[in-house]
Amino acid sequence: MSERTLVLVKPDGVRRGLVGEIIGRFERKGFALVALELRSLARETAEAHYDEHRSRPFFAELVDFITGGPLVAIVLEGPGAVLTVRSMMGTTNPAEADSGTIRGDFGLEIAENLVHGSDSLASAKREIALFFPHIDP
Ligand code: RTP
Ligand code: MG
Repeated sequence: MSERTLVLVKPDGVRRGLVGEIIGRFERKGFALVALELRSLARETAEAHYDEHRSRPFFAELVDFITGGPLVAIVLEGPGAVLTVRSMMGTTNPAEADSGTIRGDFGLEIAENLVHGSDSLASAKREIALFFPHIDP
């Protein structure tokens, strides 16, 4: 079934010039671009996005990082988009991510893992509404 999911090319990906590489992988896979915007996140938006991690020790560092420079927010659409995007990203820690995944091919450390993808259909709907209030989630 066709789904929509939220992808972020995080500030490290933008800084390193990997926007084209990362979006290109999703395009070549066959996903449609529904929305795409380069933007800097307000602290409140970042905290809302990562609300589930609010009590974790790395929360402040995570919010500092994700607000530390422009990122690219994208809504992708296609069959099984949520799960397939997550598998193309690789595991959270790039040091352990498989080659052939974005994190496995371009990352070295957990704090700078290049890309975000919604982890469930419910998260996708919540995150799309947060980033693109005018887009149908
Ligand atoms: P994301 O939400 O950014 O797509 O990443 P994810 O689902 O793979 O991982 P998640 O568990 O949601 O964690 C969110 C981000 O927090 C950072 N993190 N640091 N120091 C640590 O132990 C630790 N654990 C997680 C990562 O940068 C991760 O992307
Ligand atoms: Mg997550």
